Amino acid sequence: MSTLRLGILASGRGSNFAAILSSIQKGKLDAEVRVLVSNKKRAGALELARENRIPDIFLSHKVYFEPEQYDAALERTLTDCGVNFVALAGYLKYLTPRIITKFKNRILNIHPALLPSFGGKGMYGSNVHKAVLERGSKVSGATVHLVDEVYDHGPIIVQQGVPVLGDDTPESLAARVLKAEHKIYSEALQYFAEDRVRIEGLRARILPNA
Ligand code: GRF
Repeated sequence: MSTLRLGILASGRGSNFAAILSSIQKGKLDAEVRVLVSNKKRAGALELARENRIPDIFLSHKVYFEPEQYDAALERTLTDCGVNFVALAGYLKYLTPRIITKFKNRILNIHPALLPSFGGKGMYGSNVHKAVLERGSKVSGATVHLVDEVYDHGPIIVQQGVPVLGDDTPESLAARVLKAEHKIYSEALQYFAEDRVRIEGLRARILPNA
């Protein structure tokens, strides 16, 4: 067991970040959040970090214009804060290979559908839930996966399904999926804290509890 030193990257309201903090506070997740980084000045996640006395950093793409420049600044921030594991929590920005390589198999993302369905470029926010409803899927859910160079592609760590109901709107489905997201993100992180994840190609094997 080793306490994860988390860097959380978020662009929006930060409800997954809040859920992670709550799991840490309840002693269900062996981690500490070293820094919250956002690419959006008005992200609720930044506010939440301040309220919880967690270092919050806004990195502007107006200052670090090129993706490589941006991620060089991001890498410096994460390193300076002693981060050894990265959690993307609604981070709507492309990660360059620089970060992916530096934190190989140490970056998680949460996606609001059951990958490998309804993932890839453009599949974010309500686009995902609209696509699920248009396709007439009877189940949807949430996926926590490792990040590799391809969008929504790395090994899947935890998934939870939710039903799609006949009268669902993208909003009602999103709310049901979000509850699952909040539950499984900390669960997935805890597997890493307990060193129970083994990667075999695209497959992540979770070792049983010792
Ligand atoms: C979540 O639905 C997550 O799956 C997606 O972005 C959303 C972020 O929500 N990647 P929040 O900012 O954590 O509330």
